[in-house]
Amino acid sequence: MRRGFFITFEGGEGCGKSTHIGMLCEYLHKRGYDVLRTREPGGPALSEKIRELLLFAKEGLQMTPRTEILLFEAARSQHVSQTIIPALESGKIVISDRYADSTAAYQGAARSIAMGEVKMLNKFATGGLEADLTILLDIPEEEGLRRAATRDCGKTDRMGSQELNFYRDVRKAFLDMARENPERFEIVSSEGPKEQTFEKIVKAVEQRLLKNV
Ligand SMILES: Nc1ncnc2c1ncn2[C@@H]1O[C@H](COP(=O)(O)OP(=O)(O)O)[C@@H](O)[C@H]1O
Ligand SMILES: [Mg+2]
Repeated sequence: MRRGFFITFEGGEGCGKSTHIGMLCEYLHKRGYDVLRTREPGGPALSEKIRELLLFAKEGLQMTPRTEILLFEAARSQHVSQTIIPALESGKIVISDRYADSTAAYQGAARSIAMGEVKMLNKFATGGLEADLTILLDIPEEEGLRRAATRDCGKTDRMGSQELNFYRDVRKAFLDMARENPERFEIVSSEGPKEQTFEKIVKAVEQRLLKNV
């Protein structure tokens, strides 16, 4: 039986996911919630190994889009069964830095894999587990890439090294999904100062958490 609450953060490079997940974990922890922070691709050791292949391995430079999506889904499947479901069953709030919507935006919209196939693979990997709340941090792609480059001192991983058009498609896909699923998504602009963004996130989380009790 599921008793916890599952929050995912989505959005392009440098939109502020890691920053705000850190702030939210601290905020919820202080209020007595049991929180598990995790990320995709990644989570359990096997999925973290697949992350290395996807983002950093030199062998990955020749990766086809179909191989890429299958590796993301393989990592996700293990993540869901080994990490996310057990934590939800023990009543935790699980917060994941990216989840299935990232595959729809990156491999579906930006890499042009048919959306029907992406949905089928997402469902296969997750067993149908969806987030209770998805925070989409939205920022113009140029600004997100600028923030990410400053953060990383110019070094970037494979998914962070695409053409600007790619990130434009990613941003549009996220916004389209959010508008199609308003009950699950909360779109939060990340353009202003961090405190302002965080305030909007807290409001969205508290509204949904209270509804869940
Ligand atoms: N609202 C903000 N204004 C300015 N800089 C920000 C803001 N939010 C995050 N940042 C900075 O932008 C960079 C990217 O944020 P990060 O949380 O790493 O993004 P992501 O995890 O989505 O790639 C970091 O250096 C972070 O400190
Ligand atoms: Mg991050």
